[in-house]
Amino acid sequence: MIDRFALGSFIARAAPRIRHDLSASESASIGLADLLALAEPEDMARWQGLGLGYAAPNGAPWLRETIATGYPGLAGDNVLCCAGAQEGLTCLAQALLGPGDHAIIVVPIYQPSEIAVTRLCRTTGVALREYDGWQLDLDEIAAAIRPETRMILTNFPNSPTGATLDAGALSALIALCRRHGIWLVNDEVYRLTADPACAAPPIAGTYERGVSINAVSKGLGLPGLRVGWLACRDRALLAEVLRVKSTASSCLAGPSEVLARIALDAAPRLLARNEIIARANQARLLDFLARHPDRFAPADPINAAFALPRYLGPEGAQAFALRLVEKAGVLVLPSSLWATPLAEVSPDYLRVGLGRGDITNALAAIEAHLDSATPRRHQRGAQDSPRIAAP
Ligand SMILES: Cc1ncc(COP(=O)(O)O)c(C=O)c1O
Repeated sequence: MIDRFALGSFIARAAPRIRHDLSASESASIGLADLLALAEPEDMARWQGLGLGYAAPNGAPWLRETIATGYPGLAGDNVLCCAGAQEGLTCLAQALLGPGDHAIIVVPIYQPSEIAVTRLCRTTGVALREYDGWQLDLDEIAAAIRPETRMILTNFPNSPTGATLDAGALSALIALCRRHGIWLVNDEVYRLTADPACAAPPIAGTYERGVSINAVSKGLGLPGLRVGWLACRDRALLAEVLRVKSTASSCLAGPSEVLARIALDAAPRLLARNEIIARANQARLLDFLARHPDRFAPADPINAAFALPRYLGPEGAQAFALRLVEKAGVLVLPSSLWATPLAEVSPDYLRVGLGRGDITNALAAIEAHLDSATPRRHQRGAQDSPRIAAP
């Protein structure tokens, strides 16, 4: 079982050196004044008249109803709001799993999610693999199921691979879960950053034991609001998750609820802006990769917020990323940060954030670093080694 959040510690250790941060997986954020300028009159009135007492434990009804419109057949009562996607996932795992249970996790996955499950019960990992085009192997899932398997946890669209689950694979996965009475929990925080043509519909609207987890954090670029949610047909499960959640906090922050509702109502405009940023950055990254075929395999970014090119240099992706931030102040994330004892995750890739803003200067800094590093590669001395500890 992993017990530490390697990605979080890597970013924290690198922080003093970062001049160009390409570690993010969310779209560009927006300031408070700009967000309020997008408010409909009803929400503006709500904002101006907002009281600062305790809010509703499961989330304001008007926010849950707005969220439910994203899940065909579900209503506000099928939504439980929480402080970001991660609080929702952790509380859900505690509500569903106990020591006698077994869970399956599709990896790579965000480490805090993995820890939230592995600390509660025995767990089997099923890996997305590069040679399968990062596609889910349903036979491997079927082989991992045991009589006591209670939950399968997935993250589609996936970080860091960008893999999506198409409608056919989703139906087959649901059929498998239904046959065994297994809860299927999908962390869908990257739904809005993936190409809508590739992403399967949300699990919650499709399977009676499906739970969709999402937030305004990634596609809408508003992680600071700390507004996430679970959507599920089964209200009894949501009541149980609320019971767990009440041991952590009594309600969401009222101002965040209003701001989240404004953002959800304005989602088409925010997403259109984010797509322009992402498309320009995708083109810049593709040009950059094509200029360095000895260092990077071509990668077609399939997600607006990040790409995962393969690093070909002799020192490997992790050593490259460490030196890059140490020497050039550019932070990218080696795929070794998603390493897990549950299954093998390729360490050869770099996750490069595309969503936050123009990456031209960051790519120029990487290019300068490559130019300066090449002649000296074979004469590296001890004092020349990166000082940031390996993950
Ligand atoms: C796959 C995944 N799930 C959940 C989270 C956390 O989301 P939130 O900030 O809404 O809790 C992240 C953050 O990076 C993530 O990558």
